[in-house]
Amino acid sequence: MTTITLTIDGKEVKGEQGDTILEVCKRNGIDVPTLCHFDGLAERGLCRMCLVEAKGERGFVPACTTEARDGMEVTTENEKLTALRRANLELLFSEKNHFCMFCEMSGDCELQNLAYRYGMDHVRYDYSWPKLPVDATRKYFLFDQNRCILCRRCVRACEELAGHGVLGLKDRGPKTLVCADLDYTFGESTCVSCGTCLQVCPTGALVDKKSAYLGREIHFDRTKSACTFCSVGCGIEILTRDGLPVRIEGDWEAEPSHGILCVAGRFEPLYETRKRIKHPMARCGSSLVEVSWEEALSLTAEAIKGVGGPSAVTGIISPRATNEAASAFKRLFDENAHSTTPPNTTAGNGKLSDIEEGDWIFIAGADLDEEFRVVSSFVKRAVNRGAKAAVLGSAGKRVDKKAAKILAEDDVADLEKLIAESERPVFVWGPATHPTVVKYLQGLKNKIKQIGLAAGANNRGLEKAGINPLCESSTREALYLLIADDVMSCEIEEKARKAKTLIIQSSYVNEIAERADVVFPSPPWFERSGTYTNTEGRLCRLNRACKPPKGALSDEEIVDAVRRLLR
Ligand code: SF4
Ligand code: SF4
Ligand code: SF4
Ligand code: FES
Repeated sequence: MTTITLTIDGKEVKGEQGDTILEVCKRNGIDVPTLCHFDGLAERGLCRMCLVEAKGERGFVPACTTEARDGMEVTTENEKLTALRRANLELLFSEKNHFCMFCEMSGDCELQNLAYRYGMDHVRYDYSWPKLPVDATRKYFLFDQNRCILCRRCVRACEELAGHGVLGLKDRGPKTLVCADLDYTFGESTCVSCGTCLQVCPTGALVDKKSAYLGREIHFDRTKSACTFCSVGCGIEILTRDGLPVRIEGDWEAEPSHGILCVAGRFEPLYETRKRIKHPMARCGSSLVEVSWEEALSLTAEAIKGVGGPSAVTGIISPRATNEAASAFKRLFDENAHSTTPPNTTAGNGKLSDIEEGDWIFIAGADLDEEFRVVSSFVKRAVNRGAKAAVLGSAGKRVDKKAAKILAEDDVADLEKLIAESERPVFVWGPATHPTVVKYLQGLKNKIKQIGLAAGANNRGLEKAGINPLCESSTREALYLLIADDVMSCEIEEKARKAKTLIIQSSYVNEIAERADVVFPSPPWFERSGTYTNTEGRLCRLNRACKPPKGALSDEEIVDAVRRLLR
Protein backbone atom coordinates (compact mmCIF):
# COMPACT_ATOMS: atom_id res chain seq x y z
CA MET A 1 0.00 0.00 0.00
CA THR A 2 1.43 3.41 -0.97
CA THR A 3 1.39 6.01 1.78
CA ILE A 4 0.20 9.51 0.92
CA THR A 5 0.77 12.73 2.86
CA LEU A 6 -1.88 15.45 3.16
CA THR A 7 -2.32 18.62 5.15
CA ILE A 8 -5.62 18.62 7.01
CA ASP A 9 -6.56 21.63 9.15
CA GLY A 10 -2.91 22.77 8.98
CA LYS A 11 -1.52 19.43 10.23
CA GLU A 12 0.49 16.97 8.16
CA VAL A 13 -1.25 13.57 8.16
CA LYS A 14 -0.75 10.22 6.44
CA GLY A 15 -3.21 8.07 4.55
CA GLU A 16 -3.17 5.22 2.07
CA GLN A 17 -3.53 5.58 -1.67
CA GLY A 18 -7.18 5.02 -2.58
CA ASP A 19 -8.47 6.42 0.75
CA THR A 20 -11.25 8.99 0.67
CA ILE A 21 -10.66 12.25 2.53
CA LEU A 22 -13.03 10.92 5.21
CA GLU A 23 -10.97 7.75 5.62
CA VAL A 24 -7.77 9.77 6.05
CA CYS A 25 -9.56 11.95 8.63
CA LYS A 26 -10.75 8.86 10.53
CA ARG A 27 -7.28 7.32 10.50
CA ASN A 28 -5.95 10.52 12.04
CA GLY A 29 -8.69 11.14 14.59
CA ILE A 30 -10.18 14.14 12.76
CA ASP A 31 -13.93 14.26 13.32
CA VAL A 32 -15.81 15.19 10.14
CA PRO A 33 -19.62 15.28 10.55
CA THR A 34 -21.48 12.64 8.52
CA LEU A 35 -25.02 11.33 8.22
CA CYS A 36 -25.30 9.08 5.17
CA HIS A 37 -21.88 7.48 5.72
CA PHE A 38 -21.77 4.23 7.66
CA ASP A 39 -18.64 2.08 7.97
CA GLY A 40 -18.97 -0.93 5.70
CA LEU A 41 -21.62 0.54 3.38
CA ALA A 42 -20.94 1.86 -0.12
CA GLU A 43 -20.59 5.65 -0.11
CA ARG A 44 -23.38 7.59 -1.82
CA GLY A 45 -22.54 11.21 -0.94
CA LEU A 46 -26.17 12.04 -0.25
CA CYS A 47 -26.39 14.14 2.89
CA ARG A 48 -23.63 16.73 2.18
CA MET A 49 -22.83 17.02 5.89
CA CYS A 50 -19.23 15.99 5.26
CA LEU A 51 -18.46 18.81 2.81
CA VAL A 52 -14.90 20.10 3.26
CA GLU A 53 -12.69 22.62 1.48
CA ALA A 54 -9.86 21.19 -0.60
CA LYS A 55 -7.36 23.59 -2.14
CA GLY A 56 -7.54 23.54 -5.92
CA GLU A 57 -11.01 21.90 -6.02
CA ARG A 58 -14.03 23.86 -7.21
CA GLY A 59 -16.36 24.70 -4.34
CA PHE A 60 -16.77 22.26 -1.46
CA VAL A 61 -16.25 18.52 -1.82
CA PRO A 62 -17.88 15.63 0.08
CA ALA A 63 -15.17 13.99 2.19
CA CYS A 64 -16.86 10.59 1.98
CA THR A 65 -16.69 10.28 -1.81
CA THR A 66 -13.63 12.37 -2.71
CA GLU A 67 -10.39 10.49 -3.09
CA ALA A 68 -7.52 11.85 -1.03
CA ARG A 69 -4.44 12.73 -3.06
CA ASP A 70 -0.83 13.13 -2.06
CA GLY A 71 -0.10 16.78 -1.23
CA MET A 72 -3.77 17.75 -0.85
CA GLU A 73 -4.60 20.63 1.52
CA VAL A 74 -7.95 20.16 3.26
CA THR A 75 -9.94 22.26 5.72
CA THR A 76 -12.66 20.44 7.68
CA GLU A 77 -13.89 23.26 9.95
CA ASN A 78 -14.23 27.00 9.32
CA GLU A 79 -17.01 29.58 9.45
CA LYS A 80 -18.21 28.92 5.89
CA LEU A 81 -18.43 25.18 6.51
CA THR A 82 -20.24 25.71 9.81
CA ALA A 83 -22.79 27.96 8.07
CA LEU A 84 -23.26 25.42 5.29
CA ARG A 85 -23.70 22.51 7.68
CA ARG A 86 -26.12 24.45 9.82
CA ALA A 87 -28.21 25.42 6.77
CA ASN A 88 -28.15 21.80 5.64
CA LEU A 89 -29.41 20.66 9.05
CA GLU A 90 -32.14 23.30 9.06
CA LEU A 91 -33.34 22.02 5.68
CA LEU A 92 -33.39 18.44 6.99
CA PHE A 93 -35.42 19.49 10.04
CA SER A 94 -37.84 21.64 8.04
CA GLU A 95 -38.48 18.89 5.50
CA LYS A 96 -40.04 16.33 7.92
CA ASN A 97 -41.75 16.32 11.31
CA HIS A 98 -39.07 16.14 14.01
CA PHE A 99 -40.40 16.59 17.55
CA CYS A 100 -37.31 15.65 19.53
CA MET A 101 -38.94 15.85 22.95
CA PHE A 102 -41.29 12.98 22.04
CA CYS A 103 -38.83 10.95 20.01
CA GLU A 104 -37.46 7.63 21.21
CA MET A 105 -34.00 8.48 19.82
CA SER A 106 -33.72 11.88 21.50
CA GLY A 107 -30.30 11.94 23.14
CA ASP A 108 -28.88 9.24 20.87
CA CYS A 109 -29.92 10.70 17.50
CA GLU A 110 -27.10 11.62 15.10
CA LEU A 111 -29.21 14.35 13.47
CA GLN A 112 -30.05 15.94 16.81
CA ASN A 113 -26.43 15.68 17.96
CA LEU A 114 -25.26 17.52 14.84
CA ALA A 115 -27.90 20.20 15.37
CA TYR A 116 -26.44 20.83 18.83
CA ARG A 117 -22.89 20.69 17.50
CA TYR A 118 -23.60 23.35 14.88
CA GLY A 119 -25.66 25.56 17.20
CA MET A 120 -28.95 25.11 15.35
CA ASP A 121 -31.16 26.94 17.87
CA HIS A 122 -33.88 27.70 15.32
CA VAL A 123 -34.85 26.95 11.72
CA ARG A 124 -34.93 29.84 9.23
CA TYR A 125 -36.92 27.99 6.58
CA ASP A 126 -40.63 27.30 6.45
CA TYR A 127 -41.51 23.87 7.82
CA SER A 128 -43.17 21.58 5.28
CA TRP A 129 -45.20 19.66 7.89
CA PRO A 130 -45.84 16.79 5.49
CA LYS A 131 -48.51 14.24 6.41
CA LEU A 132 -46.53 11.02 6.63
CA PRO A 133 -47.40 7.51 7.81
CA VAL A 134 -46.01 5.44 10.67
CA ASP A 135 -45.76 1.75 9.81
CA ALA A 136 -46.08 -0.37 12.96
CA THR A 137 -47.15 -3.55 11.18
CA ARG A 138 -44.04 -5.51 12.22
CA LYS A 139 -44.04 -7.15 15.64
CA TYR A 140 -40.57 -6.02 16.63
CA PHE A 141 -40.00 -2.57 15.13
CA LEU A 142 -41.75 0.38 13.56
CA PHE A 143 -40.93 2.77 10.76
CA ASP A 144 -41.81 6.43 11.20
CA GLN A 145 -41.46 8.30 7.89
CA ASN A 146 -41.75 11.59 9.81
CA ARG A 147 -38.19 11.19 11.13
CA CYS A 148 -36.58 9.77 8.02
CA ILE A 149 -33.82 11.94 6.50
CA LEU A 150 -33.47 9.74 3.38
CA CYS A 151 -29.83 8.93 4.12
CA ARG A 152 -30.54 5.45 2.69
CA ARG A 153 -28.29 3.70 5.17
CA CYS A 154 -31.17 1.25 5.76
CA VAL A 155 -31.60 0.62 2.03
CA ARG A 156 -27.90 -0.09 1.58
CA ALA A 157 -27.62 -2.16 4.79
CA CYS A 158 -30.56 -4.36 3.80
CA GLU A 159 -28.96 -4.99 0.39
CA GLU A 160 -25.22 -4.91 1.02
CA LEU A 161 -24.93 -6.29 4.57
CA ALA A 162 -28.01 -8.44 5.13
CA GLY A 163 -28.38 -9.40 1.46
CA HIS A 164 -32.19 -9.24 1.55
CA GLY A 165 -32.69 -6.20 -0.71
CA VAL A 166 -36.15 -5.42 0.63
CA LEU A 167 -35.88 -1.64 0.88
CA GLY A 168 -35.92 0.97 -1.86
CA LEU A 169 -37.23 4.43 -2.62
CA LYS A 170 -40.50 5.54 -4.13
CA ASP A 171 -41.48 8.80 -5.84
CA ARG A 172 -39.16 11.69 -6.64
CA GLY A 173 -37.98 15.03 -5.20
CA PRO A 174 -39.60 16.17 -1.94
CA LYS A 175 -42.07 13.26 -2.19
CA THR A 176 -39.30 10.64 -2.03
CA LEU A 177 -39.90 8.02 0.67
CA VAL A 178 -38.22 4.80 1.76
CA CYS A 179 -40.44 1.81 1.01
CA ALA A 180 -40.41 -1.95 1.43
CA ASP A 181 -40.62 -4.01 -1.80
CA LEU A 182 -43.06 -2.36 -4.22
CA ASP A 183 -44.43 -0.08 -1.52
CA TYR A 184 -45.96 -2.61 0.84
CA THR A 185 -46.21 -2.19 4.58
CA PHE A 186 -43.32 -3.88 6.39
CA GLY A 187 -45.82 -6.45 7.63
CA GLU A 188 -46.82 -7.44 4.09
CA SER A 189 -43.34 -7.17 2.62
CA THR A 190 -40.62 -9.78 2.19
CA CYS A 191 -38.71 -8.26 5.13
CA VAL A 192 -37.34 -11.05 7.35
CA SER A 193 -37.10 -8.89 10.51
CA CYS A 194 -33.33 -9.25 10.75
CA GLY A 195 -33.19 -5.73 12.18
CA THR A 196 -30.00 -4.69 10.36
CA CYS A 197 -31.71 -1.52 9.09
CA LEU A 198 -32.59 -0.51 12.67
CA GLN A 199 -29.01 -0.76 13.74
CA VAL A 200 -27.74 1.62 11.06
CA CYS A 201 -30.53 4.22 11.15
CA PRO A 202 -29.11 7.51 12.50
CA THR A 203 -32.48 8.93 13.62
CA GLY A 204 -35.68 7.79 15.28
CA ALA A 205 -37.18 6.60 11.99
CA LEU A 206 -36.61 2.87 12.55
CA VAL A 207 -37.37 2.03 16.16
CA ASP A 208 -37.05 -1.18 18.15
CA LYS A 209 -40.39 -1.59 19.93
CA LYS A 210 -39.05 -3.55 22.90
CA SER A 211 -36.42 -1.06 24.05
CA ALA A 212 -38.32 2.07 22.98
CA TYR A 213 -38.40 4.66 25.77
CA LEU A 214 -36.51 2.35 28.16
CA GLY A 215 -33.52 4.67 28.22
CA ARG A 216 -30.71 6.21 26.25
CA GLU A 217 -27.31 4.80 25.49
CA ILE A 218 -25.90 6.29 28.73
CA HIS A 219 -28.43 4.29 30.78
CA PHE A 220 -27.55 0.93 29.24
CA ASP A 221 -24.70 -1.45 29.93
CA ARG A 222 -23.32 -3.27 26.90
CA THR A 223 -21.93 -6.81 27.08
CA LYS A 224 -20.29 -8.45 24.10
CA SER A 225 -21.29 -12.07 23.78
CA ALA A 226 -22.37 -14.65 21.20
CA CYS A 227 -25.85 -15.61 20.09
CA THR A 228 -26.91 -18.98 21.48
CA PHE A 229 -29.85 -19.68 19.20
CA CYS A 230 -28.21 -21.51 16.30
CA SER A 231 -24.82 -22.92 15.41
CA VAL A 232 -23.71 -19.88 13.37
CA GLY A 233 -22.77 -18.19 16.67
CA CYS A 234 -23.07 -14.53 15.59
CA GLY A 235 -21.39 -11.92 17.77
CA ILE A 236 -23.88 -9.85 19.74
CA GLU A 237 -23.98 -6.98 22.18
CA ILE A 238 -26.54 -7.37 24.95
CA LEU A 239 -27.88 -4.04 26.20
CA THR A 240 -29.14 -4.22 29.76
CA ARG A 241 -30.70 -1.86 32.23
CA ASP A 242 -31.35 -2.54 35.92
CA GLY A 243 -30.25 -6.15 35.50
CA LEU A 244 -32.56 -6.97 32.60
CA PRO A 245 -31.81 -7.40 28.90
CA VAL A 246 -33.57 -4.73 26.83
CA ARG A 247 -32.02 -4.99 23.37
CA ILE A 248 -29.68 -7.17 21.34
CA GLU A 249 -27.48 -5.66 18.65
CA GLY A 250 -25.11 -7.27 16.17
CA ASP A 251 -21.40 -6.83 16.98
CA TRP A 252 -19.89 -5.25 13.85
CA GLU A 253 -16.42 -6.43 14.87
CA ALA A 254 -17.23 -10.08 15.54
CA GLU A 255 -16.80 -13.13 13.33
CA PRO A 256 -18.50 -14.80 11.62
CA SER A 257 -21.31 -12.43 10.62
CA HIS A 258 -19.88 -8.99 11.49
CA GLY A 259 -23.05 -7.52 12.96
CA ILE A 260 -25.67 -9.32 10.87
CA LEU A 261 -28.22 -11.15 13.00
CA CYS A 262 -31.55 -12.79 12.32
CA VAL A 263 -34.91 -12.41 14.00
CA ALA A 264 -34.18 -15.37 16.28
CA GLY A 265 -31.01 -13.77 17.61
CA ARG A 266 -31.98 -10.11 17.70
CA PHE A 267 -35.63 -9.97 18.71
CA GLU A 268 -37.19 -13.29 19.75
CA PRO A 269 -35.10 -13.87 22.92
CA LEU A 270 -36.48 -10.64 24.37
CA TYR A 271 -40.07 -11.83 23.95
CA GLU A 272 -39.69 -14.91 26.17
CA THR A 273 -43.02 -15.75 27.81
CA ARG A 274 -42.06 -18.91 29.72
CA LYS A 275 -41.84 -18.60 33.50
CA ARG A 276 -38.32 -18.57 34.98
CA ILE A 277 -37.19 -21.22 37.46
CA LYS A 278 -35.18 -19.30 40.04
CA HIS A 279 -34.75 -21.78 42.90
CA PRO A 280 -33.96 -25.48 43.19
CA MET A 281 -37.06 -27.59 43.82
CA ALA A 282 -37.70 -31.17 44.92
CA ARG A 283 -40.69 -33.47 44.82
CA CYS A 284 -42.82 -33.63 47.94
CA GLY A 285 -45.77 -35.92 47.25
CA SER A 286 -47.57 -34.67 44.18
CA SER A 287 -45.96 -31.24 44.10
CA LEU A 288 -42.57 -29.57 43.86
CA VAL A 289 -41.34 -27.51 46.79
CA GLU A 290 -38.51 -25.01 46.97
CA VAL A 291 -35.38 -26.47 48.60
CA SER A 292 -31.86 -25.20 49.28
CA TRP A 293 -29.07 -25.83 46.78
CA GLU A 294 -27.43 -28.25 49.26
CA GLU A 295 -30.65 -30.24 49.64
CA ALA A 296 -31.26 -30.39 45.90
CA LEU A 297 -27.70 -31.58 45.28
CA SER A 298 -27.79 -34.27 47.96
CA LEU A 299 -31.26 -35.48 46.89
CA THR A 300 -29.90 -35.78 43.33
CA ALA A 301 -26.82 -37.70 44.48
CA GLU A 302 -29.00 -40.04 46.57
CA ALA A 303 -31.36 -40.63 43.65
CA ILE A 304 -28.46 -41.47 41.33
CA LYS A 305 -26.88 -43.78 43.95
CA GLY A 306 -30.31 -45.36 44.49
CA VAL A 307 -30.56 -46.53 40.88
CA GLY A 308 -26.98 -47.86 40.81
CA GLY A 309 -24.83 -44.79 40.04
CA PRO A 310 -24.29 -42.67 36.89
CA SER A 311 -23.87 -45.78 34.71
CA ALA A 312 -27.54 -46.56 35.36
CA VAL A 313 -28.68 -43.07 34.36
CA THR A 314 -29.18 -41.63 30.87
CA GLY A 315 -27.82 -38.09 30.70
CA ILE A 316 -29.32 -35.91 27.98
CA ILE A 317 -27.89 -32.45 27.37
CA SER A 318 -29.14 -29.71 25.07
CA PRO A 319 -26.76 -28.04 22.60
CA ARG A 320 -27.69 -24.77 24.31
CA ALA A 321 -25.29 -25.84 27.07
CA THR A 322 -21.75 -24.42 27.00
CA ASN A 323 -18.57 -26.38 26.30
CA GLU A 324 -17.79 -26.17 30.01
CA ALA A 325 -21.16 -27.68 30.95
CA ALA A 326 -20.74 -30.35 28.26
CA SER A 327 -17.34 -31.37 29.67
CA ALA A 328 -18.76 -31.59 33.20
CA PHE A 329 -21.70 -33.64 31.88
CA LYS A 330 -19.34 -36.02 30.09
CA ARG A 331 -17.29 -36.41 33.29
CA LEU A 332 -20.44 -37.39 35.16
CA PHE A 333 -22.18 -39.65 32.64
CA ASP A 334 -19.35 -40.73 30.35
CA GLU A 335 -20.76 -43.00 27.60
CA ASN A 336 -24.30 -42.43 28.89
CA ALA A 337 -24.10 -38.73 27.99
CA HIS A 338 -26.25 -37.95 24.94
CA SER A 339 -27.19 -34.81 23.09
CA THR A 340 -30.84 -33.88 22.48
CA THR A 341 -30.12 -33.99 18.73
CA PRO A 342 -29.47 -36.86 16.32
CA PRO A 343 -26.10 -37.33 14.50
CA ASN A 344 -24.79 -34.21 12.83
CA THR A 345 -23.03 -32.99 9.72
CA THR A 346 -19.25 -32.87 9.82
CA ALA A 347 -17.76 -29.38 10.07
CA GLY A 348 -16.03 -29.40 6.65
CA ASN A 349 -12.92 -27.53 5.61
CA GLY A 350 -14.50 -24.14 4.95
CA LYS A 351 -15.52 -21.03 6.84
CA LEU A 352 -18.73 -19.10 6.29
CA SER A 353 -16.65 -16.23 4.90
CA ASP A 354 -15.63 -18.55 2.02
CA ILE A 355 -19.17 -18.10 0.67
CA GLU A 356 -18.15 -14.51 -0.15
CA GLU A 357 -15.38 -15.82 -2.41
CA GLY A 358 -17.26 -18.58 -4.24
CA ASP A 359 -18.44 -18.34 -7.85
CA TRP A 360 -20.96 -21.17 -7.34
CA ILE A 361 -22.59 -21.77 -3.97
CA PHE A 362 -24.24 -25.19 -3.54
CA ILE A 363 -26.77 -25.72 -0.77
CA ALA A 364 -28.25 -29.00 0.43
CA GLY A 365 -30.11 -30.36 3.44
CA ALA A 366 -30.90 -27.10 5.23
CA ASP A 367 -33.70 -24.56 5.22
CA LEU A 368 -31.61 -21.40 5.34
CA ASP A 369 -34.74 -19.20 5.58
CA GLU A 370 -35.77 -20.84 8.85
CA GLU A 371 -32.90 -22.74 10.43
CA PHE A 372 -29.71 -20.89 9.44
CA ARG A 373 -30.98 -17.44 8.57
CA VAL A 374 -27.69 -15.57 8.72
CA VAL A 375 -26.20 -18.14 6.34
CA SER A 376 -28.95 -17.06 3.92
CA SER A 377 -27.49 -13.52 4.18
CA PHE A 378 -24.07 -14.87 3.17
CA VAL A 379 -25.60 -16.70 0.18
CA LYS A 380 -27.79 -13.78 -0.93
CA ARG A 381 -24.86 -11.37 -0.68
CA ALA A 382 -22.78 -13.70 -2.83
CA VAL A 383 -25.58 -13.84 -5.43
CA ASN A 384 -26.00 -10.04 -5.28
CA ARG A 385 -22.33 -9.64 -6.23
CA GLY A 386 -22.63 -12.04 -9.18
CA ALA A 387 -22.07 -15.56 -7.82
CA LYS A 388 -24.54 -18.31 -8.74
CA ALA A 389 -26.40 -20.52 -6.30
CA ALA A 390 -27.55 -24.09 -6.89
CA VAL A 391 -29.95 -25.72 -4.46
CA LEU A 392 -30.48 -29.46 -4.01
CA GLY A 393 -34.10 -29.95 -2.98
CA SER A 394 -34.96 -26.69 -1.24
CA ALA A 395 -33.02 -24.21 0.89
CA GLY A 396 -36.16 -22.27 1.83
CA LYS A 397 -38.44 -20.30 -0.50
CA ARG A 398 -36.49 -17.05 -0.35
CA VAL A 399 -33.12 -18.65 -1.01
CA ASP A 400 -34.60 -20.86 -3.76
CA LYS A 401 -35.74 -17.68 -5.55
CA LYS A 402 -32.12 -16.53 -5.73
CA ALA A 403 -30.89 -19.86 -7.11
CA ALA A 404 -29.74 -20.20 -10.72
CA LYS A 405 -30.37 -23.98 -10.55
CA ILE A 406 -32.64 -26.17 -8.48
CA LEU A 407 -31.65 -29.83 -8.58
CA ALA A 408 -33.31 -32.87 -7.07
CA GLU A 409 -32.04 -33.50 -3.55
CA ASP A 410 -30.03 -36.57 -4.67
CA ASP A 411 -29.01 -35.41 -8.18
CA VAL A 412 -25.30 -36.09 -7.87
CA ALA A 413 -24.84 -36.38 -11.66
CA ASP A 414 -25.89 -32.77 -12.39
CA LEU A 415 -24.18 -31.56 -9.25
CA GLU A 416 -20.93 -33.08 -10.43
CA LYS A 417 -21.24 -31.30 -13.81
CA LEU A 418 -21.87 -27.92 -12.16
CA ILE A 419 -18.97 -28.35 -9.75
CA ALA A 420 -16.69 -29.24 -12.69
CA GLU A 421 -17.76 -26.01 -14.47
CA SER A 422 -17.18 -23.75 -11.47
CA GLU A 423 -13.87 -22.20 -10.48
CA ARG A 424 -14.42 -21.61 -6.77
CA PRO A 425 -17.26 -23.88 -5.66
CA VAL A 426 -18.44 -23.68 -2.06
CA PHE A 427 -20.77 -26.36 -0.68
CA VAL A 428 -23.03 -25.56 2.26
CA TRP A 429 -24.80 -28.59 3.62
CA GLY A 430 -27.09 -29.18 6.55
CA PRO A 431 -28.30 -32.10 8.66
CA ALA A 432 -30.99 -33.17 6.15
CA THR A 433 -28.60 -33.67 3.21
CA HIS A 434 -29.47 -36.78 1.18
CA PRO A 435 -27.12 -39.70 2.07
CA THR A 436 -26.06 -40.07 -1.62
CA VAL A 437 -24.89 -36.44 -1.62
CA VAL A 438 -23.16 -36.85 1.75
CA LYS A 439 -21.24 -39.82 0.35
CA TYR A 440 -20.30 -37.82 -2.76
CA LEU A 441 -19.09 -34.90 -0.61
CA GLN A 442 -17.07 -37.20 1.61
CA GLY A 443 -15.37 -38.48 -1.55
CA LEU A 444 -14.50 -34.92 -2.62
CA LYS A 445 -12.81 -34.19 0.69
CA ASN A 446 -10.66 -31.04 0.32
CA LYS A 447 -11.17 -30.60 -3.44
CA ILE A 448 -13.87 -28.01 -2.74
CA LYS A 449 -14.73 -25.81 0.23
CA GLN A 450 -17.35 -27.51 2.36
CA ILE A 451 -19.28 -25.96 5.23
CA GLY A 452 -21.32 -28.39 7.31
CA LEU A 453 -24.18 -26.75 9.23
CA ALA A 454 -24.81 -28.25 12.65
CA ALA A 455 -28.32 -28.48 14.08
CA GLY A 456 -28.29 -27.08 17.61
CA ALA A 457 -26.31 -24.07 18.77
CA ASN A 458 -23.36 -25.79 20.46
CA ASN A 459 -23.56 -29.20 18.85
CA ARG A 460 -19.95 -29.00 17.71
CA GLY A 461 -18.93 -28.34 21.32
CA LEU A 462 -20.96 -31.32 22.53
CA GLU A 463 -19.32 -33.51 19.87
CA LYS A 464 -15.87 -32.31 20.93
CA ALA A 465 -16.66 -33.10 24.55
CA GLY A 466 -17.45 -36.68 23.47
CA ILE A 467 -21.22 -36.49 23.99
CA ASN A 468 -23.02 -39.07 21.87
CA PRO A 469 -25.88 -38.11 19.58
CA LEU A 470 -29.39 -39.03 20.66
CA CYS A 471 -30.37 -42.55 19.66
CA GLU A 472 -33.15 -45.04 20.36
CA SER A 473 -31.14 -46.98 22.93
CA SER A 474 -30.32 -43.87 24.96
CA THR A 475 -33.05 -44.51 27.50
CA ARG A 476 -32.81 -45.87 31.02
CA GLU A 477 -35.33 -45.67 33.81
CA ALA A 478 -33.41 -42.82 35.39
CA LEU A 479 -32.96 -39.66 33.33
CA TYR A 480 -30.87 -36.54 33.96
CA LEU A 481 -31.88 -33.75 31.58
CA LEU A 482 -29.79 -30.60 31.15
CA ILE A 483 -32.17 -28.66 28.95
CA ALA A 484 -31.00 -25.10 29.82
CA ASP A 485 -33.26 -22.53 28.08
CA ASP A 486 -34.02 -24.84 25.16
CA VAL A 487 -37.46 -26.03 24.12
CA MET A 488 -37.98 -29.76 24.54
CA SER A 489 -38.72 -31.88 21.48
CA CYS A 490 -41.57 -34.42 21.56
CA GLU A 491 -38.98 -37.21 21.53
CA ILE A 492 -37.27 -35.93 24.69
CA GLU A 493 -40.63 -35.29 26.36
CA GLU A 494 -41.60 -38.89 25.61
CA LYS A 495 -38.38 -40.21 27.18
CA ALA A 496 -38.88 -37.95 30.22
CA ARG A 497 -42.46 -39.12 30.70
CA LYS A 498 -41.31 -42.75 30.80
CA ALA A 499 -38.50 -42.08 33.31
CA LYS A 500 -39.02 -43.39 36.86
CA THR A 501 -36.36 -41.04 38.24
CA LEU A 502 -36.07 -37.61 36.64
CA ILE A 503 -33.60 -34.82 37.43
CA ILE A 504 -33.76 -31.68 35.33
CA GLN A 505 -31.74 -28.49 34.85
CA SER A 506 -33.98 -26.00 33.11
CA SER A 507 -34.27 -22.21 32.91
CA TYR A 508 -38.01 -22.26 32.45
CA VAL A 509 -41.05 -24.06 33.81
CA ASN A 510 -42.39 -26.74 31.50
CA GLU A 511 -44.57 -29.80 31.79
CA ILE A 512 -41.57 -32.12 32.13
CA ALA A 513 -39.91 -30.02 34.85
CA GLU A 514 -43.17 -30.22 36.78
CA ARG A 515 -42.93 -34.05 36.76
CA ALA A 516 -39.29 -34.13 37.91
CA ASP A 517 -37.94 -35.39 41.24
CA VAL A 518 -35.39 -32.59 41.47
CA VAL A 519 -35.30 -29.36 39.46
CA PHE A 520 -32.26 -27.06 39.22
CA PRO A 521 -32.52 -23.57 37.74
CA SER A 522 -30.29 -23.31 34.69
CA PRO A 523 -29.03 -19.83 33.72
CA PRO A 524 -30.78 -18.46 30.62
CA TRP A 525 -28.74 -16.97 27.75
CA PHE A 526 -28.22 -13.54 29.35
CA GLU A 527 -26.91 -15.02 32.63
CA ARG A 528 -24.69 -17.67 31.04
CA SER A 529 -20.96 -17.41 30.51
CA GLY A 530 -18.47 -19.79 28.97
CA THR A 531 -17.77 -20.85 25.41
CA TYR A 532 -19.59 -22.35 22.42
CA THR A 533 -18.05 -23.97 19.37
CA ASN A 534 -19.87 -22.78 16.28
CA THR A 535 -20.65 -24.78 13.16
CA GLU A 536 -17.27 -23.84 11.63
CA GLY A 537 -15.43 -25.04 14.75
CA ARG A 538 -14.77 -21.47 15.91
CA LEU A 539 -14.69 -20.82 19.65
CA CYS A 540 -17.28 -18.16 20.62
CA ARG A 541 -17.19 -16.51 24.03
CA LEU A 542 -20.42 -16.02 25.97
CA ASN A 543 -20.35 -13.31 28.59
CA ARG A 544 -22.91 -12.98 31.35
CA ALA A 545 -24.86 -9.75 30.81
CA CYS A 546 -27.08 -9.90 33.91
CA LYS A 547 -26.37 -11.05 37.45
CA PRO A 548 -27.97 -14.43 38.23
CA PRO A 549 -30.16 -14.77 41.36
CA LYS A 550 -28.12 -14.85 44.59
CA GLY A 551 -26.33 -18.15 45.19
CA ALA A 552 -27.22 -19.56 41.76
CA LEU A 553 -24.80 -22.08 40.26
CA SER A 554 -23.82 -22.40 36.60
CA ASP A 555 -24.77 -25.58 34.72
CA GLU A 556 -21.27 -27.02 35.05
CA GLU A 557 -21.09 -26.15 38.76
CA ILE A 558 -24.33 -28.08 39.38
CA VAL A 559 -23.14 -31.15 37.46
CA ASP A 560 -19.68 -31.09 39.07
CA ALA A 561 -21.21 -30.71 42.55
CA VAL A 562 -23.39 -33.79 41.95
CA ARG A 563 -20.33 -35.74 40.75
CA ARG A 564 -18.36 -34.79 43.87
CA LEU A 565 -21.19 -36.06 46.10
CA LEU A 566 -21.15 -39.39 44.26
CA ARG A 567 -17.47 -40.08 44.97
S1 SF4 B 1 -35.17 11.63 14.79
FE1 SF4 B 1 -33.72 12.84 15.95
S2 SF4 B 1 -34.06 14.88 15.28
FE2 SF4 B 1 -35.83 13.72 14.62
S3 SF4 B 1 -37.28 13.90 16.26
FE3 SF4 B 1 -36.09 12.11 16.74
S4 SF4 B 1 -34.46 12.88 18.06
FE4 SF4 B 1 -35.33 14.62 17.04
S1 SF4 C 1 -35.12 5.10 7.78
FE1 SF4 C 1 -33.31 5.80 8.86
S2 SF4 C 1 -31.62 4.84 7.76
FE2 SF4 C 1 -33.40 4.72 6.44
S3 SF4 C 1 -33.25 6.49 5.12
FE3 SF4 C 1 -34.56 7.06 6.84
S4 SF4 C 1 -33.18 7.96 8.34
FE4 SF4 C 1 -31.91 6.89 6.87
S1 SF4 D 1 -35.35 -5.87 9.01
FE1 SF4 D 1 -33.75 -6.78 7.70
S2 SF4 D 1 -34.87 -7.58 5.93
FE2 SF4 D 1 -36.26 -6.18 6.98
S3 SF4 D 1 -35.95 -4.24 5.92
FE3 SF4 D 1 -34.59 -4.22 7.71
S4 SF4 D 1 -32.63 -5.00 6.94
FE4 SF4 D 1 -34.18 -5.51 5.41
S1 FES E 1 -21.54 11.57 4.82
FE1 FES E 1 -20.68 12.41 3.02
S2 FES E 1 -22.38 13.07 1.91
FE2 FES E 1 -23.26 12.10 3.64
